[in-house]
Amino acid sequence: MRIPAPPTGSRGRRIRYPTCYTRRTHVRERSLSLRAFAFEMSSQVTIQPSGHRFTIDGDETVLAAALREGFNLAHGCRNGACGTCKGRLIAGAIDYGNYQSSALSEAERAAGLALFCCARPLGDLEIECREIAAVKGIRIRKMPCRVEHMQRKADDVMIVRLRLPQNERLQYLAGQYLDIITQDGQRRSFSLANAAHAGELLELHIRNYGGVFSRHVFERMKVRDILRFEGPYGTFFLREEGAKPVILLASGTGFAPIKAIVEHAFHAGAARLMRLYWGGRRRADLYLNELAERWAAEHPDFAYIPVLSEPAPDDGWGGRLDLVHRAVMADFPDLSGYQVYACGNPLMVQAARADFIQRCGLQEAEFFSDAFTPASAPPPPAPR
Ligand SMILES: Cc1cc2nc3c(=O)[nH]c(=O)nc-3n(C[C@H](O)[C@H](O)[C@H](O)COP(=O)(O)OP(=O)(O)OC[C@H]3O[C@@H](n4cnc5c(N)ncnc54)[C@H](O)[C@@H]3O)c2cc1C
Ligand code: FES
Repeated sequence: MRIPAPPTGSRGRRIRYPTCYTRRTHVRERSLSLRAFAFEMSSQVTIQPSGHRFTIDGDETVLAAALREGFNLAHGCRNGACGTCKGRLIAGAIDYGNYQSSALSEAERAAGLALFCCARPLGDLEIECREIAAVKGIRIRKMPCRVEHMQRKADDVMIVRLRLPQNERLQYLAGQYLDIITQDGQRRSFSLANAAHAGELLELHIRNYGGVFSRHVFERMKVRDILRFEGPYGTFFLREEGAKPVILLASGTGFAPIKAIVEHAFHAGAARLMRLYWGGRRRADLYLNELAERWAAEHPDFAYIPVLSEPAPDDGWGGRLDLVHRAVMADFPDLSGYQVYACGNPLMVQAARADFIQRCGLQEAEFFSDAFTPASAPPPPAPR
């Protein structure tokens, strides 16, 4: 297997992950002759246990077709990296598509599991997967918007506010994301950083990864520019039916959807104990630290714990020094009575999921996440 190239930041600078957050490998598979055969056809899919049925046209993935027809299968990245869309193939055959081996292991695949954001049908299918009722009725829309406001909050973080066309509002759940569509049709996912009640503008927190879109934002984009987006997507949002205390875990711009969730919870008067752990390498990574401190000062049920892994001497850091998910484990060796929402660096999310479930007794169904995986295509196939 080929190891993906290390990430680079703005102007070729490497983005350094804390060393314990290790890299992942990709699986690429495409049975071209069978796909060519299936390309012209449509397939019927039955979802279990609901019995819902929908049609997949042409080259659509199972997830894309389900969302188009209003069936809200659990999903996150939509590019085979996070594992959120994993479900069971009960009957029929699929092309598994391109995905990361960390999202679907060989053993899981042998046991009949698949990632529906990558899988394409080779005939009619029967599948078993989670459908998310709360997202029902929220329409995925393609819309233009205008850049209303840009604020550089750190060397590599820009807060951008977008205005929708007159009389238009976007319906979404706090925690969901949208896809910005670039002029040449590429898609880049960004979480909505404000809750829907907060007004007409959509807020994004964009990190400069040195890629196509983030460089555009940092080097060329101006107020009044027009962008196009599609959304909302994702099933990362606060489950409001329960009463369990909540651990919110963010790294870097993973704070964006967490901010929306917290603002929504305050606005809705949710009676939940919430504890936010926000991690970065350096002080500047906590680019809205004062806001989180204000939430903690104003809301007795809310606590904020900032955590740095590699502060510089001039950061003058006297706070917690750790990897952010390890700080949670130090404070909560028993997470069996908690719900966790984790967002940001995919390697942090992956480590948190594994450690919280295996070592702290968190119930698997109580871990919700959005991993900020890069949109760029995975590397070419490994020789098989
Ligand atoms: C559901 C979801 C929500 C997201 N929300 C946000 C958000 O709110 N704010 C935000 O800043 N990002 C977010 N991301 C991540 C963002 O969509 C990707 O990083 C995207 O690829 C950035 O586009 P780009 O054109 O700048 O870089 P690309 O052109 O896609 O990538 C160029 C190169 O930059 C590096 N790179 C790109 N992205 C990353 C990354 N995430 N980590 C490490 N290296 C990377 C890689 O080396 C890559 O090859 C989200 C991702 C997902 C899946
Ligand atoms: S792996 Fe399918 S949504 Fe992330």
